[in-house]
Amino acid sequence: MTPPRTTRVVCLVRRPVGEPLPTDFAVEERPLPPLGEGQLLVRNLYMSVDPSMRGRLESTEKHYTHNFTPGAPLDGRALGVVEESRCAAVPPGTYVRHQLGWRERAVLDAADTDGAGRIDPGLAPLPTWLGLLGQTGFTAYVGLTRIVELRPGDTVFVSAAAGAVGTAAGQFARLLGAERVLGTAGGPDKCALLVKEFGYDAAADYRAEPVRDALARLAPDGIDVYFDNVGGEQLAAALHALRTGGRVALCGMMSQFGGDRLSGQRSADINQLIQAVLKRLTLRGFIVRDHDDLRPEFERRVAGWLAEGRITARETVVDGLENAAGALLSLLGGGNIGKMLVRLDDSH
Ligand SMILES: NC(=O)c1ccc[n+]([C@@H]2O[C@H](COP(=O)([O-])OP(=O)(O)OC[C@H]3O[C@@H](n4cnc5c(N)ncnc54)[C@H](OP(=O)(O)O)[C@@H]3O)[C@@H](O)[C@H]2O)c1
Repeated sequence: MTPPRTTRVVCLVRRPVGEPLPTDFAVEERPLPPLGEGQLLVRNLYMSVDPSMRGRLESTEKHYTHNFTPGAPLDGRALGVVEESRCAAVPPGTYVRHQLGWRERAVLDAADTDGAGRIDPGLAPLPTWLGLLGQTGFTAYVGLTRIVELRPGDTVFVSAAAGAVGTAAGQFARLLGAERVLGTAGGPDKCALLVKEFGYDAAADYRAEPVRDALARLAPDGIDVYFDNVGGEQLAAALHALRTGGRVALCGMMSQFGGDRLSGQRSADINQLIQAVLKRLTLRGFIVRDHDDLRPEFERRVAGWLAEGRITARETVVDGLENAAGALLSLLGGGNIGKMLVRLDDSH
């Protein structure tokens, strides 16, 4: 079969003014480069949709990696199958993860892939390799084991608890010995799911009740650990609820994207940091890719928990590249439970 010479990609049309709109993105046909030595042609099967993309749409502030450019394709994590290979170690048919998502096919260096030979659809379905066994599960694992060094008996609070990192963090915290696991999410349905499916003891709807009141109600004796996906009001509330010597993993700041951050409406939360002085708290920010040495341990343990049926992987899957921008906007508004993914091939 003749190799395809073009692929459909999602391009950034213009930088959003305020909240991103569907018209800020477009699906276009772009040429694929010829395959060089050591390169692979990969057909993407699933791609990851991540909150960090919101920051990358802007021109000024650098986030986890480079910012997107108007007129150029977006990128992000994806899982695909090798269709053609000029690298003997990665033959056609191998499943690989890589960074050239937001397109149906990609030509990339074999050295820039991971998972080759390790992604086993028999061990866990392909979507799980981008979620619970992928970067977001790994983020939860790093945050709990290395950043706050979770101890048996800890009371743990997780924000954005019904998302990809949050559903992993609640379940891992329980298996790592936490005594009590509390979460916040938007809406009563998500809160009910947290308790029913994801190992949380109790959950509060941050849209319906101030989080400071919710924590006083759910953890009157305080919390030991806060896994912060949200920042802002929830971080300030956690600082009040933490016991002396408490630990915080600063993972992400969902509440500070877009309007809130730009208008500085929440800047008063920083004044709550006096709590860190008074209670000798440890607040530690982290970027997951700095902790790759933990990945083999993470994959072994989490694959084991999955095989034993002790944890649940959950994804929200949107079909088709033409719906990918909509999936990003939905994620930013809380439209996902677990990991937000786009499926690019409905045979998988
Ligand atoms: N440090 C690292 O290396 C690293 C790596 C990966 C991810 N992260 C961070 O981890 C966090 C979670 O990422 P994820 O991929 O798992 O995303 P996610 O939690 O699956 O999706 C984001 C969720 O954030 C919630 N949200 C949106 N706006 C909010 C607001 N103003 N206040 C509170 N919650 C809000 C929404 O749920 P509701 O319906 O509950 O509002 C939404 O579902 C993000 O902050 C991300 O940037 C960090």
